[in-house]
Formats: sequence, structure tokens, C-alpha cells
Amino acid sequence: MDITFLLNGERVRLHDVAPTVTLLDWLREERGLTGTKEGCNEGDCGACTVMVSDEHDARALNACILFLPQLHGKSVRTVEGVADGDTLHPVQRAMIDHHGSQCGFCTPGFVMSMVAAHANGATDHDVQLAGNLCRCTGYAPIIRAAKAAETAPRPDWLGRDRSLLPSEISSEEAAEKNAKPLDANEAGEQTAFAPGNADELAAIYVAHPDATLVAGATDVGLWVTKQLRDLGPVIFLNRCEDLRAIDVSTDTIRIGAMVDMNRLRLLMENHHPSYAEMIRRYASVQIRHAATIGGNIANGSPIGDNPPALIALGARLHLRKGDARREIPLEEFFLDYGKQDRAPGEFVEAVSIPRQPDQLKCYKLSKRFDQDISAVCGCISVSITDGAVTAARIAFGGMAGIPKRARTAEAALIGSSWDEAAIVAAQEALLADFSPLTDMRASAGYRMEAAKAMLMRYFAEDHGMTTDVLEVRA
Ligand SMILES: Cc1cc2nc3c(=O)[nH]c(=O)nc-3n(C[C@H](O)[C@H](O)[C@H](O)COP(=O)(O)OP(=O)(O)OC[C@H]3O[C@@H](n4cnc5c(N)ncnc54)[C@H](O)[C@@H]3O)c2cc1C
Ligand code: FES
Ligand code: FES
Repeated sequence: MDITFLLNGERVRLHDVAPTVTLLDWLREERGLTGTKEGCNEGDCGACTVMVSDEHDARALNACILFLPQLHGKSVRTVEGVADGDTLHPVQRAMIDHHGSQCGFCTPGFVMSMVAAHANGATDHDVQLAGNLCRCTGYAPIIRAAKAAETAPRPDWLGRDRSLLPSEISSEEAAEKNAKPLDANEAGEQTAFAPGNADELAAIYVAHPDATLVAGATDVGLWVTKQLRDLGPVIFLNRCEDLRAIDVSTDTIRIGAMVDMNRLRLLMENHHPSYAEMIRRYASVQIRHAATIGGNIANGSPIGDNPPALIALGARLHLRKGDARREIPLEEFFLDYGKQDRAPGEFVEAVSIPRQPDQLKCYKLSKRFDQDISAVCGCISVSITDGAVTAARIAFGGMAGIPKRARTAEAALIGSSWDEAAIVAAQEALLADFSPLTDMRASAGYRMEAAKAMLMRYFAEDHGMTTDVLEVRA
């Protein structure tokens, strides 16, 4: 596979790239750029953070779970490439002035997250830096540094990347595409494809149904770095711009499979703010920039955060195999643990949500507030008319082998007066809906109690009580 990108402002053209080499390994081993550190190698610590930009935006990403082909057409900045000669980037200067570094191992990752936040004008530093871990300095000096750099002008030398991109890469790519519409690499041991749109993807996947689809690689990356798996043939979805489309009509919100968590969060702020707030706690900025809604559904995880919210909103899943398309209620996609209603060669094209008044509340319960997988994720939407429940959709993650609707609890609510007795009945009904497991995240009993408490919390919030999981009461 041939790829072209900018590295610290210089064009890099790679031929016959092994498709599952990570950017982190390549930077350190092939380019000697060892400023980008390896901590966890699984997206959890931020030591490997780099800034990747294109004509749309600049984003902090974890280089440890980013495969080289995902960079095609982008500009990559590492910590070696953010100063202009002796002139430091304002966040570097601020880190020195505010004593933001002790041993220094985490510092390049922090600097790159701060550079990307600075480029975007983001000043919610706790959120921007939640994916970066520091063992020795402590976060206060780092946050002080980030605040101090807020008003410094964005350095010109970084802005140049965006203007270079179209001329340096797109024309070359266009010429290449005419010659070779479906980019494949069979020179090495691994076959890889990078279709340019959903039609090409559909054709390739039907011909190679055994291939692994790679969207944001926040799951697939770990199969390589942690499980040392040979993925076999791979199909990269990152060039399928049409799968990134968001279409808001009077009836539905249609979200393309390649929409990432940060864009989804912005979209949901306008429609279902509680869903948006849950996504803010989904991993870190770096992971949210990569992880896609299609990957979060297709992986079939019982603890993925999007499926419960989408099921509670009555979402429908759009699947495609070749030219054949079908549409199913999202909850029907999840058949059993590790088993989904998806045929070989079939992929997720989009998910759509019916437009509706916002009654959704999403409760993500995890051991750590930020950057942690849910132990239980409960998403609840109840319609009330004249004091009675007319409709209810309740879905949980972490309570079964699949994301699942609480149909018995819903039935207990529908038709009842909207009062505490109805909630108590629904809480009891949860026992018929779920037999949760005990694992490292939570015991079965804790999960059941947590799910019951989420129902009561919904009721309490609906009656004007403010609840805050960050508040600790003695
Ligand atoms: C540090 C860290 C923190 C995380 N925190 C959370 C969290 O808080 N909440 C949460 O829910 N998840 C979390 N995850 C898991 C992960 O981010 C999500 O599952 C993510 O949405 C996967 O999307 P992706 O685009 O990265 O998928 P990929 O890794 O590219 O793919 C995942 C799977 O889906 C398949 N696939 C991808 N796209 C399609 C498609 N369009 N059609 C069919 N199949 C497809 C792939 O072949 C693969 O089997 C975390 C992961 C990491 C590494
Ligand atoms: S090395 Fe820890 S996030 Fe990449
Ligand atoms: S300065 Fe040592 S880990 Fe952050």
C-alpha cells in the first residue's frame, strides 16, 4: 500500500507499507523520532500523543494504535515538530515557566495534547488532558501552563500544514486513483485495501468477506499491539468520506458509520444533551477523535456506550452487502454474546435516530470518572402525558452479554401513573430482564442495584432534583 502524508511539515511518501505498522513504532524505529513515547501501547496513557490535521481540523491522537495507512492525506506533527527552530511553541514555553515537567516521560504527550487544544481554541483543559497520565509532576502545574498559553497567538508555522495539504497530497492522490481505483497491496504478506467510498468498500468486502474492517482502530489496534494477532486481509475505511456524513432531516438524524465520537458529541449537544455528556466521559479526547459509531456498534461489545443510548432512542441500523441494503431496529442486531446479525461481506453503513422530544438520560457508571469503560450504562427515555406513562424505552449495557432493552421494566411502567410506586415496580421487573455477571468491573449484585438506582435517578431528575456523580456526601 502506498501512502503520502506530511510529517512535521515535510512530505513523506511510503511504498508497500505493511498495513498494521503503528505510527508510534514507525516514528521511533524508522525515523528515530523518539520524543513520542510508548507507555501503555493501548490508548490509555497519552504518552504517544501526536497532532494529526487535515483540511477540516487538528486532532490529538494516540500514535500507538494508529496504523500508517490511516494517515494518508494528513499532516502529522510530533513533539519534535512543534517549535520553529529556537522559537518554542507557546505551550512548551508555558510548561517550562510553570514547572509542568519533572521526569519528563509524559511531557511530550501532554505538550502534543495541549498543542492540539491550542490549535482548536479549546480551553476545557481538564477534558482535553483527561487522556494524558502523569505520575510525578501532578496536574496543577500542567493545567496552569495550559491556561497561561490560552491567549498566545497560534504559531504560523503550524498553520502552514493545512495549506500545504491539498497541493502536496490531493493532486497526487487523484492521479493515483485514476490509475488504480481500488488500492490494494499484495506485495508483502498482508493484503490491504483502502476504498475511496462506500460503493468501493461494498465491492471489495463482498469479494473479501474474510477481511478485517478497520475504522478508528481503537479496538483493532489493540488486537495487534496487545494480542499480537495477524489480522489477515484488512480494509481501511478512513478514505470513505461519504461514511462520515451526518444528515438531519425533519424526521430522522442519520449518522454515517465513520462519524467519530467527538463529532457525535457535538451533534448530540443539540438534540440529546445527556447523551452528549455521556460521550464526554467516553475514553479520552484522543480516543474520541478516532473511535467511530460504526465500530462501537459492529464490535458487539456488551459494554459499548453508544448502543444503549441509541436503543433507548429507537435507532435503526443500516446494513449493506454489495448493492443490497437492509434496515433493522438496533436492538435486533445484537443476537448473543459475540454474535451479531451481520452476514459475511456485510457492513454498517449508518445508524438513524427518529427525531423526538428529548426525554433521554444516559447514566455511565465506571470505576473512574474519566477514561474508563462502563460497569453499567443505563439509558432511559420515558414519555408522560397527564401524569401517566405513555411510552418507555430503557436499555442497559453491562447487564447482559449484549446491550439489551429492559422490556419487562418498560411494560411495568407503561400505563402506570408516573410516581414512585411505578418506579419500584419497574425496579423489581429488572430482575426478570437481566441476570448480570460478576467480573473485574463489578459484581452481579452491584450491577443490579446500580441499574435499579438509575431508574430512581431518572424519576428524581424528572421531578427537578439535581444529581451529580461528582458530589460526595459524608
Ligand atoms: C483507551 C480506550 C478507552 C475506551 N473507552 C471506551 C468507552 O469509554 N466506551 C466505549 O464504548 N468504548 C470504549 N473503547 C472501545 C472503542 O473505542 C470503541 O469500541 C470504538 O467505538 C470502536 O470504534 P473504532 O472505529 O475504533 O473501531 P475499530 O477498532 O476500527 O473496529 C472495531 C470492530 O468493528 C468492526 N467495524 C468497524 N467499522 C465497521 C463498519 N462500518 N461495519 C462493520 N464492521 C465495522 C471492525 O472490523 C472491528 O471488528 C475504548 C477503547 C480504548 C482503547
Ligand atoms: S502509549 Fe499509552 S496511549 Fe499510546
Ligand atoms: S513528569 Fe514524570 S510522569 Fe509526568
